[in-house]
Order: sequence, then C-alpha cells, then structure tokens
Amino acid sequence: METDLQGFHEDTSFLSTLPKTKWKLGGDMTILQWKGFWFMPEVVKSVISIENQFNPIPSDILLVSFPKTGTTWLKALTATILDHSSYPKSHSRTDPLQTRNPHELIPFLELETFGENPPRDINQFPSPRVFSTHFPYSALPESIKNSGCRIIYISRNPADAFVSGWHFYKMMFGSKIPLEEAFDDFCKGTVPRGPFVDHVLEYWLQREKKNVLFVTYEELTEDPNVHVRRIAEFLGCSLSGDEVEQVVWKCSYARLSKLGVNNGEEERVNFSGMKLSSFFRRGVVGDGKKLLSPEMVERIETLAKHKWEGSGLEL
Ligand code: A3P
Repeated sequence: METDLQGFHEDTSFLSTLPKTKWKLGGDMTILQWKGFWFMPEVVKSVISIENQFNPIPSDILLVSFPKTGTTWLKALTATILDHSSYPKSHSRTDPLQTRNPHELIPFLELETFGENPPRDINQFPSPRVFSTHFPYSALPESIKNSGCRIIYISRNPADAFVSGWHFYKMMFGSKIPLEEAFDDFCKGTVPRGPFVDHVLEYWLQREKKNVLFVTYEELTEDPNVHVRRIAEFLGCSLSGDEVEQVVWKCSYARLSKLGVNNGEEERVNFSGMKLSSFFRRGVVGDGKKLLSPEMVERIETLAKHKWEGSGLEL
C-alpha cells in the first residue's frame, strides 16, 4: 500500500530523502526510517503537524506503547480510573467501557487527532485530556516533552508482542509471508515504530522523571491491584481498596472481551477501518513461546538483553 500525503498542509518533501523499506507483514507497505525508527510516511507527517499545531498542557495525559503491548488495556484502565475519581462516591458511575471500546474513549494523537482529516477535534475533549501514541521517545514532539504532561508507558515481553502483532496484522492486511520472515523483520527492527527493543529502552531511561510512569503487561497481569493503584496514584486519583478491585475487574480481559462493544457483535471499526474486536485475542502472558521456536525466542531475548545491558531493564 503506497501512502498518499497530498492532503497534509506541511511540506513533506523531506520524506523522499529518508531511507525506506517494505514492511512485508503489512502487505509490503513502504516504511521510512526517521530519527532511528521506522514509520509509515503519514505518521512522520503527523509528528510535524503535532509540532506545529498542538499545545500540550501539564494536565494532559499521554499513554505510550509499542503496538500490541497492551495499549487497549492501558486505555481502559486510565479511562476507568479517571471515571472513578471524577464522580462523588455517592453517585453511580457511568462505566464508559460498557458502551465504548477503549480506543473510542482515548484516541491516538497521530492520525486520529492530527494528520490528514483527523476524525476527532481535541477542543471538545474534557479535562484532563487523554491521548495515546506509539511514537518512540526520540520522535515525540518537543512541545510534548517540554510540557510536563504525564506519560504512562506500557511495555511487554518482545516475543509476546511480536506474536500478538503477527496475528493482528495478518488479519488486517491478509499478508501470506512466512512467520520466520516476519520475525526476522521484527528482530531487525524494520516494522512500524521499530526497533522494539530501542522503543522500550528509550522510555525506560525516562522513568525516573516524576511525570513518567513505566509499567509492564506482565506485572499488570501478575499483580493488577498493586499496579492499578500505582497508575491511579500517578494520575493523582485516590481510590479505595474496593475501587481498585472494581477498576481491575471492569478492565479485565475476561470482562471486556465479552462485552458487545468488543466481541464483534456490534461490528465496530476504528478510524482505519480495523474491527475493534480484533484488539482482544487471548490476553495472556507467554503466548510468544507457544508459536515461536526456542531458537527464535532466544534470538529476540538475546537481542533485548544485549541492547538493555546496564540499563536495569530486564525481560
Ligand atoms: P494478544 O494478541 O496476546 O492476545 P494492543 O492493545 O497494544 O493492541 O495490544 C493487544 C494485546 O493486548 C492483545 O494481546 C490483546 O488480547 C491484549 N489485551 C487487550 N485488552 C486486554 C485486557 N483488558 N487485559 C489484558 N490483555 C488485553
């Protein structure tokens, strides 16, 4: 799929000077290397639109992830925590997840709020404004980095993230490439927002800033109450033990994946036409090891260990 950049207002001519390759699992889509990472052309363009048009404020909340690492879950948790804290305890809460998929509640900054014909108008957002993005830290617009807005990053085991993406993108693009080739691209980093290991490391290195919180899919799975409380405290929301339990349950895979808004019954799609039900597949830790050979798992884990050596970041 070639991308048409005609509708953007900013000058896009520099894009033609960037290194490019094909993302095979994405139906041979052209991706460009920029600031050390690979992007679809319209995403590079949207970073520049954001630089020029977005005025982030300290109360904004940005949820960041590499694709397929738990974005949907983090969106659900954030929306529910904020919902709990914005209603007095005596009032019944709205439970936004009952009728909306998490992606309908919190949009991506790139393409959904900026870029070509964005379908959402951020001026209509209630405070605090919550956005999500898959931008690596080095491509994050300076205005965002300097705003002091809160950033929550979710990371996941690389083999699990790859396998989640393998199923998702095959469904999305109908690509027939062998698993080994797609995995090779993932390890080389020639996938959108890749290399994965650099993406995670960049945010890990920011984690000591008071406006940055780093969580992992695995720790959320293992001890959801502890980490939901951490997220709530980071967002400045004080939740009782009961409320933490409720948030954990409301956002659990077991519950969300069965709701009509998420299970395909309602045939809902996102801004790019992707079925919203496809954001729920299995929701478990360790799926990577089931599909990949031990050699493949070792390859990606060795790569991660090597890249992360000395940083304190572990698998
Ligand atoms: P699997 O494909 O391994 O099942 P993203 O939201 O970043 O696209 O990631 C999608 C992955 O998160 C999928 O993983 C999906 O099943 C899982 N997921 C979605 N909602 C979840 C939830 N509430 N709890 C745990 N995992 C969830």
